[in-house]
Amino acid sequence: MLASLADSSGHAIALRILNADSLESWLADQPDEVRAWVTANGFSAKSGSFCPLPGRNGQMNEMLAGVEALDDIWSYGALPKSLPPGTYEIQPALDRDSANAAALGWALGSYSYNHYRKVDRLSASLVWPQNCDSAAVKRLARGIGLTRDLINTPANDMGPEELEEAARQLAGEHGAALQVVEGEALLEENYPAIHAVGRASTRAPRLIDLRWSGGDKTAPLVVLVGKGVCFDTGGLDLKPAEGMKIMKKDMGGAAHVLGLASTIMEAELPIRLRVLIPAVENAVSGNAFRPLDVIQTRKGLSVEIGNTDAEGRLVLADALCEAGSEKVDLLLDFATLTGAARVALGPDLPAMFCNDGALASSLAQHGERQKDSLWRLPLHQPYREKLKSKVADLNNVSEGPFAGAITAALFLEHFIPPETPWVHFDVYAWNQSDRPGRPAGGEAMALRAVYSLIEERALSGKSPSNDSA
Ligand code: BES
Ligand code: ZN
Ligand code: ZN
Repeated sequence: MLASLADSSGHAIALRILNADSLESWLADQPDEVRAWVTANGFSAKSGSFCPLPGRNGQMNEMLAGVEALDDIWSYGALPKSLPPGTYEIQPALDRDSANAAALGWALGSYSYNHYRKVDRLSASLVWPQNCDSAAVKRLARGIGLTRDLINTPANDMGPEELEEAARQLAGEHGAALQVVEGEALLEENYPAIHAVGRASTRAPRLIDLRWSGGDKTAPLVVLVGKGVCFDTGGLDLKPAEGMKIMKKDMGGAAHVLGLASTIMEAELPIRLRVLIPAVENAVSGNAFRPLDVIQTRKGLSVEIGNTDAEGRLVLADALCEAGSEKVDLLLDFATLTGAARVALGPDLPAMFCNDGALASSLAQHGERQKDSLWRLPLHQPYREKLKSKVADLNNVSEGPFAGAITAALFLEHFIPPETPWVHFDVYAWNQSDRPGRPAGGEAMALRAVYSLIEERALSGKSPSNDSA
């Protein structure tokens, strides 16, 4: 992605960024032949459109590009793959926010997952725009690129072991410590739910635990937990083919927390960071966990299995319980947890659940500012009774079709210490089709919003969970 951003080049084609308003005033200052050319080409500065201006010698003199607004990141996303190959330089310069949006939109728009094939065509390059904070753009683009790559990697090459390897590589790059509890050791170390879900696969389940510090021992502790179901067949409650098809993305939560961790560590934010990933494959075999089995959890709550396809909440239960074993200033989890969240909000809007109103509003504001939308759903306590079981402390599913995303979040809430500021994101982590800057396949959602909140609070010395502290 970052290969499509170039250091300054003598031969760059000038790229003039215009929206509908600025096009009008720019045209008014142009000679008749330019006005006629632009009009004849039907260029109206629509987002993603462009219009070359030829010089007298037939060379490209300048390229006009249309945007919705100068700081709209997605308006720049179509250009790297649609402009004629070459190197472009934005002129005149944009202000800082717009220059950052242009560079990040360009980077995200040039992404393609080419691990198993040759690239079809090279993206056009953009000279790093003036006024742009290139370090900030680079660390976000790298984080999001990592998230997308991990999700896009097919499940045969992205099992629990490969997910561990990805975490190990990231840890190595940033001097973080990595510990892993794998296979039967999960039982010895009291992670029974992770073991129960993952034991049917030939690829051993594990808990991946990364720790890093960019501050002293008293720096706030942020813990990120990500659902790492490397493939979700549904287990014995097998998914139908259509629903199973894209379940390589069921480690999308893990991909989000690794991408976010990459950005945080690259920025050297003055926090202590812990990343916990329960990595399993929800497979079918003779020793698979069954409907109506009762399994234990790290917390000591017994869970009756109403449905083996509701496996994400089980592995997260053990990881969240471990996350709460020390004082945490901010606990965030990301998970491709329910189809119900998608029915409620569609594929692009992550559902956010939060036990702290001020934190939730602040995250929503960061989402709006970063154009990285999210939507809060309630932890509606009366629905806790839907998770009652006659034989165990809890059932892993509720009866009936209602409020599936909420009951899943309420299930998780049982495993969080009540005083811990906690946010749960139920994300789709997938683009169904190509859009500017958002190619079909794995996608990071709410990552920029969350990073922006953590960065703001870390750099202002506030507790990462509390605006007023
Ligand atoms: N990984 C799925 C959730 C999912 C499905 C996310 C499709 C995005 C798209 C999860 O493990 C699951 O299967 N959940 C079940 C829960 C149900 C059995 C209570 C679901 O949502 O159908
Ligand atoms: Zn499932
Ligand atoms: Zn799942």
